[in-house]
Amino acid sequence: MKISSIIFDLDGVIVSTDEYHYQAWKQISDQEEIYFDREINERLRGVSRMESLDIILSHSDKSYSENEKRLLAQRKNDIYCELLNKLSPDDILPGVIDLLLSLKARNIKVAIGSSSKNTPFILKQIGLTSNFDAIADGNSIKNSKPDPEVFLLAAKMLGIPPVECAVIEDAQAGIDAAKAAGMKAVGIGSAANCLNADMKLSDLTNLDIDQLLEVNEFRS
Ligand code: G6P
Ligand code: MG
Repeated sequence: MKISSIIFDLDGVIVSTDEYHYQAWKQISDQEEIYFDREINERLRGVSRMESLDIILSHSDKSYSENEKRLLAQRKNDIYCELLNKLSPDDILPGVIDLLLSLKARNIKVAIGSSSKNTPFILKQIGLTSNFDAIADGNSIKNSKPDPEVFLLAAKMLGIPPVECAVIEDAQAGIDAAKAAGMKAVGIGSAANCLNADMKLSDLTNLDIDQLLEVNEFRS
């Protein structure tokens, strides 16, 4: 058996939106006088918007009501979306286009599996919406990574059994979600340090496609 579909995380795999997330959360934390730095921002990788807010608010002494939290998350998203207007195909990460073309040439199905509710907007901005056979994102799931829901949904939309899917991820939460879904997990960037990743790479430019499509003999 071979891997017959690849599920891509979006932020940090297809496109780098980290800086925009950082800038938007930084503005909110400064306004609220909450300590926030790039190290804390790293912990928000792959984590849903509301869970990200909870991580940020854990550095505050003040307690926030559910309604205040909803408003803060909305304010952050308004700033973030304004910044996303600057996104263009130039922001697609190295190796992505070549990989998508190689997978298409081999008839391998490709999907997005992202926690982001801004997935449709981001894909439109970078001009890749029509390159994916299925898009599972934060708008269609209840449980965010490390829960496997988004990847299982992507596999279902593709009509491919999870065991034949490989996930490419830049976050520990995403690698955990892929493993929980029974899928092969490829860690790139910061996720190249994840102990439970089946393949580890600095970025997508040096990816060995034959190795990517091989099913692991010993699954954890
Ligand atoms: C991705 C990012 C996270 C972000 C999440 C939700 O997984 O890595 O940092 O919190 O999406 O993003 P959203 O666009 O819905 O606020
Ligand atoms: Mg990511």
